[in-house]
Amino acid sequence: MDIFCRQVIPYECLNLSRVKFWLRIMKEHSLFMKLGFACTDVELIRQAEQFYAEFEDLEKQAQCINNDESFMAFVEKIMVAVKNIFAFKRHVLHLLVNCKIGGSNYPLLIDHISREAMYFCKLLGKIRDGDIKYPVDSIVSDNVFWLRHMADHARFIAGLLDPSERDFVIKANDFAAQFERLQLQARDLDSMLWHMGPNSDLMRFETDVTAATIQIRDFKKAARNLISACKIVSLIPPLLADHVLREAEYFLQVLEAIQEDLHCMEESQIKTCDYPES
Ligand SMILES: [Fe+2]
Ligand SMILES: [Fe+2]
Repeated sequence: MDIFCRQVIPYECLNLSRVKFWLRIMKEHSLFMKLGFACTDVELIRQAEQFYAEFEDLEKQAQCINNDESFMAFVEKIMVAVKNIFAFKRHVLHLLVNCKIGGSNYPLLIDHISREAMYFCKLLGKIRDGDIKYPVDSIVSDNVFWLRHMADHARFIAGLLDPSERDFVIKANDFAAQFERLQLQARDLDSMLWHMGPNSDLMRFETDVTAATIQIRDFKKAARNLISACKIVSLIPPLLADHVLREAEYFLQVLEAIQEDLHCMEESQIKTCDYPES
């Protein structure tokens, strides 16, 4: 299921380093949006700048969190800011798809970053909601979310590279197709395993997804290094290249936690199924 569905809850748990990661991501989204607005859309540029300053300030505040109580109060504060930036992104998307504004923000990019705001919002909300009733549902929906995002990144890279960079454009499109296929497979597992425990197909799928994500992470790292060294021509700012690389690294951390937990779940299933020795 998609991140906008009410039942979808991220699998991972919130901690301060994840909060810091997402605050930086939200701050950078504000900057990317600002850079993509037409220079005549001064009000939208002003709002994007305001969000940038707000998330920059929250990042500074995050450095001072040193106990559970201040962390919980901080989470409530961030939640308000994230809901506001989510509404702003959806508003801009509405303007774009109805051709009310121009500029160079792809509508899919704005949709993509609004999904990330929703994911962060749900991650923050999870701290109040307690344990997940159906962990496999969350594991699979996290895969659907992140695989879609890896595919989107590859499509954005392909669309922003200079057309003369033919080999890189082909590679980026190949990654997009690979991650779109994996996303479809994750959607199949989503309904097939709904409200069920893990099975070996899911374990194998997570291994395949990890291998593919390591490859796209390496591709993004190479692209980021080439862009930073001005060895490739594109419309991709170095910060955007670094941003999508960090998101791939984050997904790999999520996958690592999922695989560890799946092994534990499998072991406990084997133990419960063991017959007592006669
Ligand atoms: Fe992002
Ligand atoms: Fe992203």
